Amino acid sequence: MSDTETQYWVATVPLADLKRRKKTRVEVGARAVALFLVGDRVFALDDVCVHKGRSLSRGVIWQGKVVCPGHQWTFDPETGEAEDQDDCQPVHDVRVIDGVVHVTAFPRG
Ligand code: FES
Repeated sequence: MSDTETQYWVATVPLADLKRRKKTRVEVGARAVALFLVGDRVFALDDVCVHKGRSLSRGVIWQGKVVCPGHQWTFDPETGEAEDQDDCQPVHDVRVIDGVVHVTAFPRG
């Protein structure tokens, strides 16, 4: 996040929806964000893959990691780190308030 951006929280989807679908894509301002339910935790990553821009929300969760449908890069959903790659997918903080998933408007860092 740059100094000129003010971080704020944005309400997205009901947690119950995510529990059914396990993943979804939401719009947070001008950003597309991919939400994933891994175990009982919710994670939010920018939807546009840092590699070549495919939609992470069309990927799958495999062994607790997010696998991009483009070229199968595997991301840690908590840190956004890509396995065996130098690139890192931007991640957003998440909290659940009254059964609704909220994410930060801008990624961490
Ligand atoms: S676009 Fe995601 S791995 Fe290539």
